[in-house]
Amino acid sequence: MKLFKEIGIREKKDLSDANILKALKKLGKLDKKFKDQDLLLNLISSENKNIRYYAINNLAKINNEKLLKNFEKFLYQEPTSYVRREIASAIGRLRSKKAIPLMKKIIKDKDPNIILQGVRGLLVFKKDKDIQNILKGLKNHPNEIVQKVINIEFFDMNEYSSKHSYSPDNLKNCIANGDVIKLLKKVENESVHLTFTSPPYYNARDYSIYNSYNSYLKFLWNAFKEVHRVTKEGRFFILNTSPIIIPRTGRKYSSIRYPIPFDIHHEMIKMGWEYVDDIVWLKPEPSAKNRVAGFNLHRKPLAYKPNCVTETLMVYRKKSNKLIDWIFKQYSQEVVKKSKIKDGYETSNVWKVDPSSDKNHSAVFPVSLCDRVINYYSFEGDLVFDPFAGSGSVGTSAIKNKRYFFLTELNKDYFKLLKQKFNSNLFDDVKIGIKD
Ligand SMILES: C[S@@+](CC[C@H](N)C(=O)[O-])C[C@H]1O[C@@H](n2cnc3c(N)ncnc32)[C@H](O)[C@@H]1O
Repeated sequence: MKLFKEIGIREKKDLSDANILKALKKLGKLDKKFKDQDLLLNLISSENKNIRYYAINNLAKINNEKLLKNFEKFLYQEPTSYVRREIASAIGRLRSKKAIPLMKKIIKDKDPNIILQGVRGLLVFKKDKDIQNILKGLKNHPNEIVQKVINIEFFDMNEYSSKHSYSPDNLKNCIANGDVIKLLKKVENESVHLTFTSPPYYNARDYSIYNSYNSYLKFLWNAFKEVHRVTKEGRFFILNTSPIIIPRTGRKYSSIRYPIPFDIHHEMIKMGWEYVDDIVWLKPEPSAKNRVAGFNLHRKPLAYKPNCVTETLMVYRKKSNKLIDWIFKQYSQEVVKKSKIKDGYETSNVWKVDPSSDKNHSAVFPVSLCDRVINYYSFEGDLVFDPFAGSGSVGTSAIKNKRYFFLTELNKDYFKLLKQKFNSNLFDDVKIGIKD
């Protein structure tokens, strides 16, 4: 009862679940000399799953091979995944060869949480050829996290040559006129640190007419495949889109709404982007098209149509098995320090930003929105790409934030304006040799 005396409990009647938990959480380091091992074993029959969890957690600290049999019994009698995971972890933490047969059994469990603990435990012995072969055999395991762990441990030979502190000089502050897919064919792999863009809307503006929604999506997918190729491993692509509406053809027909971000998403994952976040760009209601006016008069259910005051910023990362730390290490301490994000940064995924207007372009990014994206997702000196440059807001923000820009724009008039906007010594579209 030493365990409970430490938290001031002397009488059995004071042993409430809350008190037991308090005592269990208070136990620090333990070793084989720990006196209350049997008491912990008894607590495994508690009805309270948190008590069972912390009892196992403490038993694991004792690191006693003799507990292996108990752990095995608990594992197969325990009903919750939460506690079973802790038991499987306790088995692995023994780092004992005697636990190997049980861990081989564990990796055949139905629950991926348990399997992963078995894998972790067996990885301690990964130099043993038999164990190595068993683990390699999980390469095509149905669970994606198991697959990822096995790939990182045994099959990730991908030593990328492209350094993150580098980008090709000929793309720095470069603007190119033409179709982005064609232009990117001339750009080498892994050149770009960050892409922030808003693609042309499906048949909603003059500059973006496609003969079907499918051909529009295919165009975007092909463009984003190329963006993926030219992006450095583990770096970000922030894609701004929102569902659009094509007005009805006549009174007999209804308007059609296209859920663009949702239709793009699955292809993005297939082509090797990893989903990281979705940020909601919230605009003031008066800036949105008024869709409720008709409903406001008749108030009939089913005909409700809200004013759309949000757009989505989908945050993707080029798939990598490496942690973000691996990228940090490639920059000098000075660059990392200078790129630190200042106080007052946005803490939620809802960003209230007023829209901007431009006399020459009908759909421009507010520079303040670009500032956030560029500061949060790149380092000073990085190359920031906008494949659909329009008025060049991404370029303006890149310069302001001490990054380089690389812009492509199809429309010749917008391109001319871009040339005027950015001082001619900042770019030379001939120099890069990718002028359309
Ligand atoms: C939504 S606007 C982007 C506006 C931009 N974010 C800004 O802040 O001004 C999309 C732009 O993509 C351009 N565009 C359309 N198809 C293109 C293509 N195949 N290659 C490059 N640019 C293209 C359009 O001309 C238009 O200027």
